[in-house]
Amino acid sequence: MMHKWRKHIRGIVDELMNNAVKAKATKIDVSVAEKEQAIIINVKDNGIGMSKEKYAEVSKKLEQSRRVELEEYYGALAGESMIGTGLSLVGMMTDRAEIKTELGKGTEITVYIEKRG
Ligand SMILES: Nc1ncnc2c1ncn2[C@@H]1O[C@H](COP(=O)(O)OP(=O)(O)OP(=O)(O)O)[C@@H](O)[C@H]1O
Ligand SMILES: [Mg+2]
Repeated sequence: MMHKWRKHIRGIVDELMNNAVKAKATKIDVSVAEKEQAIIINVKDNGIGMSKEKYAEVSKKLEQSRRVELEEYYGALAGESMIGTGLSLVGMMTDRAEIKTELGKGTEITVYIEKRG
């Protein structure tokens, strides 16, 4: 079942790990778990962390409603590929996100892809 989501999982892990590296992390823990209802991806780093403002910006990006399937469908019809980049795209591929971050300590981001049908 996880197979169906492998491209999304790879894209999400890649983006979250890139962000952790850019935040000067020296340790990054990644986990991907399949539950009955959802795929859960967690990336934890010990990088620079986020200010309150940055946290608000990132929350907004991640809290977009999931719509990547639709974009892929209409994008394919229109002959374009993907819209959005970075965490906006992660937000479009996921149903829910949790962010824990502390300046100077690090960041932990967990995202959920509900499996639905
Ligand atoms: N793990 C993290 N630790 C600290 N700051 C982060 C982390 N992840 C994201 N951020 C902050 O949130 C901002 C937005 O992230 P996002 O991935 O959307 O954009 P980006 O990485 O700057 O550019 P792009 O991903 O489009 O190349 C980052 O520029 C960074 O300031
Ligand atoms: Mg990024």
